[in-house]
Amino acid sequence: MIPQSFIQELLNRLDIVDVVERYVPLKKAGANYVACCPFHNEKSPSFSVSPTKQFYHCFGCGVHGSAISFVMEHQGLSFPEAVEELAKSIGLPVPHETSQREQETRAAHNAGLPEMMLQALHFYREQLKHSETAIQYFKKRGVSGEIAARFGLGYAPEGWQNLAKVFPDYAQSQALLETGLIIENDEGRRYDRFRDRVMFPILNARGNVIGFGGRVLGAGEPKYLNSPETSLFQKGQELYGLFQARHAIRASGRVVVVEGYMDVVALVQHGIGYAVATLGTATTPVHVQKLLRAADEIIFCFDGDAAGRRAAWRALENALAALTDTARLLFLFLPEGEDPDTYVRQVGQAGFEANFANALTFSQFLFKELTRDLDLTTDEGRAKLVQSAKPLIEKVAAPALQMMIRKRLAELTGLSTAELTSLMPNPAVSRPQESQSRPSQNRSPQVKARRAPSLPRQLLRMVLQQPDLARGIQIEGLDDGGSDERMLLAVLALLNRDPHITTPPAILEAFRGAPEEAVLSEAIGETWAWDGEFDLAQEFQGALEQLRSSARQKRIDSLLALAKTQTLSPEQKQALTRELSTGRAS
Ligand code: UTP
Ligand code: MN
Repeated sequence: MIPQSFIQELLNRLDIVDVVERYVPLKKAGANYVACCPFHNEKSPSFSVSPTKQFYHCFGCGVHGSAISFVMEHQGLSFPEAVEELAKSIGLPVPHETSQREQETRAAHNAGLPEMMLQALHFYREQLKHSETAIQYFKKRGVSGEIAARFGLGYAPEGWQNLAKVFPDYAQSQALLETGLIIENDEGRRYDRFRDRVMFPILNARGNVIGFGGRVLGAGEPKYLNSPETSLFQKGQELYGLFQARHAIRASGRVVVVEGYMDVVALVQHGIGYAVATLGTATTPVHVQKLLRAADEIIFCFDGDAAGRRAAWRALENALAALTDTARLLFLFLPEGEDPDTYVRQVGQAGFEANFANALTFSQFLFKELTRDLDLTTDEGRAKLVQSAKPLIEKVAAPALQMMIRKRLAELTGLSTAELTSLMPNPAVSRPQESQSRPSQNRSPQVKARRAPSLPRQLLRMVLQQPDLARGIQIEGLDDGGSDERMLLAVLALLNRDPHITTPPAILEAFRGAPEEAVLSEAIGETWAWDGEFDLAQEFQGALEQLRSSARQKRIDSLLALAKTQTLSPEQKQALTRELSTGRAS
């Protein structure tokens, strides 16, 4: 693990403007620098870098973060890799204070689950270099070295306890068992889950290794062995390749969803970088939500057989509640006997993409399936269509789309829309908009600013704007009731504890991976709108005093309420007197 103090030192030594400039040409604009956003497609620049805040922010797609997050995002690196890279760029050695071996042993003992997964990944990658058969396997399937590196492909060698070389506490470690990398039998003997398989690491959206899929090299059962569900890995929520695809998804505005690991690898190998796969499960609502957060166009790609159609139908059902009026869902069926891997090898990128024009839209696929076995020339057939369509249409969360589909159903059945509404009341009319709220990163900063922030949130923003404001502030006497309060207190405590933390990115990095990270990151985004060097100190003191006195009032109220039902203890009486007198004094 890299010590937190080093991260802070690194951030203090770097200038984010230099860092971003290495990858993206910047232009000066007032106090900031701007460019066309490297994370989404745009013609006029909405990406801005602040030398005073040491932060970047895009008003178009909402990304923001520190120099470290920029390098992670832009280069597709993990956190430690980005730190290494940045440290190297300014000639700062990353502390490896002890010998390599000692450090490995200690890391294996102390490491959390993600760190262990990463060590396993390094091991499998290393083993791939030494296995001619595994190399040949990938070569035969057309996987280049570059693509293998991009996906971290590896090889788990034959043998029962190879991972004991990586984890010296193989026989005892509870954490190692929890990673799912090893299995313990009834007699308590442990062995590697993955043996003699080529390995596909599964990363989460942050780029951490959370699981593996392992394929047999020849024939054998099961063809793919996957990590079990662990605290890190829930397969209904993760998409293989999403981390690697994120830039291509942003650039193209679309994502293609396939079924297999090798499908993703092959598509990327052929220039279709925006490919992801579900992990041996049907597409879930969480998948659809995640995908729609990344792009407006989702192309579900399935085999052309009956199984493929069933899988597509499951995806459609699970997408209903996540649909928005800006989303475009397409269902693409490949010729029988082909999967995306074999197909893209035949037709190439252009041929594959040309097929998107033949894909069915959401509503086309919906009606095609609903009418599959119905005779619409009969009243009974049309009645049945209404009944089978009803529960699905009611779930469509996009109001305009739902209306279009209702209209289409009316046409197909020969009913008027009024008649149809009498059969299925139109919820879109009584429930306008609310289900349409998109994740906050798609909201414009102006909309965000209009929500009245709570007092603790305002304080938090000020502290993030000017961390020095908060030095030496007494935390006692503040309430930690809400999430903004807790966040504020955590930041105040951090600033009191660590004098090296002086900038917003340093604060954010101190909470990386912690539950607070999201709230904090959002609050930092909110501070972006107020640029300029005005003095916050007075405003901060005023707001803080207001927060203090409302916390005090709460304590007084609860003591008074208590006094109505019981006699207060001497301590409680004292507290009440004290609170009341402080209240008057201020
Ligand atoms: P397929 O059986 O369609 O294989 O499984 P594939 O993707 O074409 O694999 P290759 O081309 O033979 O290598 C599709 C997906 O279903 C899951 C995997 O995620 C696989 O990529 N699967 C399949 C399993 O999890 N276990 C299995 O035994 C088989
Ligand atoms: Mn295949």
